[in-house]
Amino acid sequence: MNMNEPYGSGDASYKAAGEYDGIKKLVDAFYSAMESLEEAKKIRNMHSANLEESRDKLTRFLCGWLGGPKLYSEKYGSIRIPVAHRHLEIGTSERDAWLKCMKTALETQPYEDDFKEYLMKQLYVPAERSRNKD
Ligand code: HEM
Repeated sequence: MNMNEPYGSGDASYKAAGEYDGIKKLVDAFYSAMESLEEAKKIRNMHSANLEESRDKLTRFLCGWLGGPKLYSEKYGSIRIPVAHRHLEIGTSERDAWLKCMKTALETQPYEDDFKEYLMKQLYVPAERSRNKD
């Protein structure tokens, strides 16, 4: 068991995720999973051919969301996750494909197992809030 501050308090999660560099690696692995997993084909195709901006946006968003610096709003302005996905058709299968990419990405990160579990539970919340059909 990890004796540091509990995840979710202050910037404990941001630190557990390896700060900006660690989160960038996680996001790179997330988009690699999205490019290779059969069940993620549909959500991959919702994105632009070039994923550079998506990588930058998700990396910056997760930094702030995990209690670290608000790098997304610094560069791109304010964001509400359900609104940001309103123009996309996201049902349970798209939500689950997104979460599967994240789970696959987490398997290759040097994180504590309890942090991986914590993150998957927490990410379910914005993923479910992005769903707009089914
Ligand atoms: C539920 C399944 C999800 C799907 C299928 C999905 C898909 C997408 C797509 C296709 C884009 C690019 C939109 C565009 O360029 O028009 C996008 C943007 C984005 N997504 Fe998701 N997403 C999902 C969940 C999430 C979650 C859970 C988060 C955060 C934890 C997230 C964070 C973002 C951010 C920060 C952007 C950039 C928004 C912007 O600046 O406009 N997404 N998403």
